Amino acid sequence: MDSKQIKHKFFEFFSGKKHEFVASAPIVLKDDPTLMFTNAGMNQFKSYFLGTDKAKYQTVYNTQKCLRVSGKHNDLEEVGKDHYHHTMFEMMGNWSFGDYFKKEAIEWAWALLTEVYGIKKKDLYVTIFEGFEEEGLEKDQEAFDIWSAIVDDDRIVPGNKKDNFWEMGDQGPCGPSSEIHVDLRSDTEKQELPGRELINKDHPDVIEIWNLVFIQFNRKADGSLENLPQKHVDTGMGFERLSRILQNKVSNYDTDIFQPIIKKIEKISGHHYGTNEEKDIAVRVIADHIRAVSFCIVDGQLPSSNGAGYVVRRILRRAVRYAYNFLGINEPFMYKLVDVLEQQFAEDYPEIQTQKALSQKVIKEE
Ligand code: GLY
Repeated sequence: MDSKQIKHKFFEFFSGKKHEFVASAPIVLKDDPTLMFTNAGMNQFKSYFLGTDKAKYQTVYNTQKCLRVSGKHNDLEEVGKDHYHHTMFEMMGNWSFGDYFKKEAIEWAWALLTEVYGIKKKDLYVTIFEGFEEEGLEKDQEAFDIWSAIVDDDRIVPGNKKDNFWEMGDQGPCGPSSEIHVDLRSDTEKQELPGRELINKDHPDVIEIWNLVFIQFNRKADGSLENLPQKHVDTGMGFERLSRILQNKVSNYDTDIFQPIIKKIEKISGHHYGTNEEKDIAVRVIADHIRAVSFCIVDGQLPSSNGAGYVVRRILRRAVRYAYNFLGINEPFMYKLVDVLEQQFAEDYPEIQTQKALSQKVIKEE
């Protein structure tokens, strides 16, 4: 499946379960003082979870452009060095605003991964929240019991608050989560050490692909948790990781999502990707960062010397530094990559096309 088909299958699955499509929110947040950038699909639905607004539809799906470069979720320093973290990435999700809860969320996620996408059951592990006494949070026995009817108990791994209690930031809707992980190692490696031992241990081939969050609390400014009036489902699946798995690649950068940009960087730099690790890292940094920078600019956040603008400036400069130091590129070139983004993203995110000239001009000047 190419990545467009992969996305389409997700959409088709949830529209078949009576979910409505909701367009991605901007990547740059202007009206939430707790967050600079959209860091998860759930941000735009915050007021539905809190109960301060009523959702038009109670069950929806989407693909959200996200950026994780500041605050609670910050992957910037990993990007380029590994093959599965990104600054900007797309997160596909399904949502229930006071409608279904854990059972449907878990059963549908399993059905989509194993029956529609055909991921082998023997390669999948799941996690559940082990509880956190200090805050009076109990083990998520309900999620355990639902999973227990689907997979062997030794595939259900308890996880701590850091990994299995999702919070968008210091404040806001939150709750225990259940993640699905996939073990992409060779059969020999799997025999030597079961994947269970490698969950959430930063192994490059045993990775999380889908997080099912059961939103039921609000973290308040004083740090306390209050129960929300209703229970909700917030799920997030990394589109680039899923594409890597389904396209049978060892790196997100080998998928059809990143290859067109990498080809263009090869052309500009003269470096053949895959022949020198130091230079390859630089290629990955550039391929990743051009997406983040362009998506921010087309949503109205220009590079500047403070706040969100400074974050955009830092991302662009990180890319340029890698290009200069490792690929020997010493003239402006990042703006030349914007055309490739247009070809890839215009369908889902039309702003990348309509604001292309602005993006090219700002990146070149910067
Ligand atoms: N909101 C769930 C996640 O981003 O993983």
